Amino acid sequence: MNILLDTLNYKKVSKVPIWLMRQAGRYLPEYMEIRKNYKDFIKFCLTPDAASEVTLQPLKRFDLDAAIIFADILLVPFGLGVEVNFVEKKGPILSKVFDEISINDLSFETERFDNVCKSVSQTILMTKTQLKKSFSDKALIGFAGAPWTVAAYMIEGSSSKDFEKARRFAYDNEDFNHLIEKLIAATIKYVSIQIESGVDVIKLFDSWAGILSVEQFRKFVIEPTKRIVDEIKLKYPKTPIIGFPKGASILLKEYAEKTGVDCVAFDHTVPVDWVKQNIKTKSSRLVLQGNLDNVLLTCDNIESLKDGINNIINNLWLNDKSGFIFNLGHGCLVNTKIKNVEFLIEELRNF
Ligand code: CP3
Repeated sequence: MNILLDTLNYKKVSKVPIWLMRQAGRYLPEYMEIRKNYKDFIKFCLTPDAASEVTLQPLKRFDLDAAIIFADILLVPFGLGVEVNFVEKKGPILSKVFDEISINDLSFETERFDNVCKSVSQTILMTKTQLKKSFSDKALIGFAGAPWTVAAYMIEGSSSKDFEKARRFAYDNEDFNHLIEKLIAATIKYVSIQIESGVDVIKLFDSWAGILSVEQFRKFVIEPTKRIVDEIKLKYPKTPIIGFPKGASILLKEYAEKTGVDCVAFDHTVPVDWVKQNIKTKSSRLVLQGNLDNVLLTCDNIESLKDGINNIINNLWLNDKSGFIFNLGHGCLVNTKIKNVEFLIEELRNF
């Protein structure tokens, strides 16, 4: 059995489960070793043996409780027909929906979308086989971007500090709803294929949830997430779903109550005592996941890291020994120190 899956099923566990967002990435030399063989990041994600190997790299180094499939949230827009290029130091560049590509041209009933699904499915099957052989007590997490965050990249055409264009577009243009509808349907298909291929858990990343107005948050974050969760729960009632509305602050409470996710993940700006007081967990069997500042894994000062870990553990773990998964508030940074990750895991194992 696996303590992460037990936690998601609201069982008591002996140790606090841990995994890290972006645990496979550029801070690992073995990742860079494979990465250098691929100019095209999308192609890298869609090459099952490479993606599967990278998925397992963090487990070979660290005593983590789960692997997360190596892929990207932008594989869905790519599958729908958008061009996606990852440019060094700039991040993703996409052909803009509405400016360069019409919403009517976006479809998931295409060979292109099927090919994305087939590659990711193959990565999952290969990874499952390896996990069974070498890491039988580890869970496998699949994921997708939530519709708002994916739509934001599709309208903006790149990363942005505030996605002003995408947010304006959502106010100005009725067509934005059509884009969200298309993304709901595509995400359900993409996630269903991952579950059928063998992932144990699904995570929905809404990395840009925190920049929306309250009304937009309800309409473009809570509603679409609920639609996806309802449909997935209907088809696969046993697969737990983690939702991550990054930056949601006090709207985290409404997100937790209304979307139907089994677990809410929250970032490092949310006070853990606020979470404890405001988010009903026991009566609704809701699991929490978070929220160590990812910068602490890049620091020289181990005492700060220790304090950060203790604060989370004391507030969210020690009382109940259930209902909590340790993670970062956001993904591992390029400057993450391997010795800090080792220290973190060692500390948790000693609690
Ligand atoms: O280890 C894992 O967590 C699994 C793999 C994973 C990646 N991306 C690989 C990746 C996951 C879960 C993601 C999700 C993702 N992708 C999100 C949501 C989570 C978050 O970080 O907010 C978002 C917004 C994206 C889109 C994306 N992908 C951006 C903006 C960038 C460029 C910025 C950056 O960090 O380089 C990526 C690239 C990316 N995705 C990398 C990795 C390992 C780095 C690419 C490289 O090797 O050059």
